[in-house]
Amino acid sequence: MKFETLILAAGKGTRMKSKLPKVLHKVGGKPMLQHVIDAAKQAGSQREVVVIGSGAELVQQTISGVEFVEQTQQLGTGHAVLMARKNFDHSSGTLLILCGDTPLLTSKLLQNFATAHENSKCAATVLTAEMPDPTGYGRVIHEDDGTFSRIVEDKDADAAQRKIREVNAGVYCFDVQKLFGALERVTNDNAQGEYYLPDVLAILKGDGETVGTFGAEYCEETIGINSRVQLAAAERILRQRKTFELMNNGVTIVDPHSTFIDVDVEIGQDTVIHPNTYLEGATKIGSDCDIGPDVRFVNMTVGNNVTAHFSYCHDAEIYNDVTIGPYVHVRPGTKISDRVKVGNFVEIKNSTIGKGTKLPHLQYIGDSDVGEGVNIGCGTVTCNYDGKNKHRTKIGDNAFIGCNTNLVAPVSVGDGAYIAAGSTITKDVPMNNLAIARARQTNIDNWNDKRK
Ligand code: UD1
Ligand code: CA
Repeated sequence: MKFETLILAAGKGTRMKSKLPKVLHKVGGKPMLQHVIDAAKQAGSQREVVVIGSGAELVQQTISGVEFVEQTQQLGTGHAVLMARKNFDHSSGTLLILCGDTPLLTSKLLQNFATAHENSKCAATVLTAEMPDPTGYGRVIHEDDGTFSRIVEDKDADAAQRKIREVNAGVYCFDVQKLFGALERVTNDNAQGEYYLPDVLAILKGDGETVGTFGAEYCEETIGINSRVQLAAAERILRQRKTFELMNNGVTIVDPHSTFIDVDVEIGQDTVIHPNTYLEGATKIGSDCDIGPDVRFVNMTVGNNVTAHFSYCHDAEIYNDVTIGPYVHVRPGTKISDRVKVGNFVEIKNSTIGKGTKLPHLQYIGDSDVGEGVNIGCGTVTCNYDGKNKHRTKIGDNAFIGCNTNLVAPVSVGDGAYIAAGSTITKDVPMNNLAIARARQTNIDNWNDKRK
């Protein structure tokens, strides 16, 4: 079925007490507004228009793939919708309206909701939910015959109405032309002096149109985030949803309560995730991996059969059969090829590491191209920075770098070359050569006796 979507995201989010616009606060590693947009798109939305106002510039910089319309003064949700009137001049059929602060909505619920609306032939349908604690939400008032009457906002409700647990989820389907036909008649004669979008439902009803309700099966999907306490509650629900989904697809998560996996992360079958692991952003992990404990991956692409523990890796690629950790920092722009071993206090930045190469302990490898089958001794450092510019180090296939070598870049070490331990290499080392670059040792006879 076809529908267009309007998302309200202009509000300041006063209750968040934040410099950041509310809808950009993240849950499951993704801005709330992006969750809502993604759910709408997945449900089959043909087009998304987002009303922005507070922090408009920042929202536009952060969110893409939608149309924006500005509400310069936040005079209420009804006023926000009115700002988008011209965007829907040529539209017909169903307009789905969502708020940018309901990140737990699933595409399945939106699809069912929009389908039910179309089938009902109502002019408008409002999504409702039975909330254990309805505080802050608009309450749904029914006529004596059970049909929809109107929404009363929390701040306008009397004591009896406040006891109602059926709330407005802030999600609506409208016949788009009927909506805009009635919207101008919404007034701001209420406790908050705002133009309330839900008031248009009662106006349509007064016009003789039918207005329906659709109850969400799981009330947690419709939670609106107005405060940081609610943000944390949403976070917990989203994370649980994500770990359950992964486990149901064949991933072992040893302790879901101490595992933090962002919503867009992908993990292959039979991978095991140990406690205190954070998998963030656009991270993709293959199958048969063993990740954690205490691993943080951000925007990582990881192949199959990779082991990583007690390490932090971000914006980099790790191929297959690689071992990482303990205590490894892999930084942006790094590519680690098949069968590489990186362990024990190693930092790698903006470098490529060839197949089967070993970096077993205490290395800094920056701006380097390391070949295949290389063995790098403990304590080796690439001196990539001269105080002004960064330079590259190149190490050929099957080279052997002795312990505590300094490679002063720009420098290159040929295939099969050997470097003696403790060398400071400032000149290129040709293929198959041995380079020794350290002072010769002098032993002084009986030195200690003479000292006395
Ligand atoms: C709103 C509903 C309430 C419902 C609840 C569900 C109204 C009047 N009330 O209340 O019935 O139970 O959502 O979560 O609609 N916004 C604008 N421009 C404005 C004002 C708000 O774009 O001038 C946007 C906000 O950015 C937000 C959304 O509209 O994303 C909802 O606004 P909010 O202030 O959070 O409304 P609630 O008080 O939660
Ligand atoms: Ca809200």
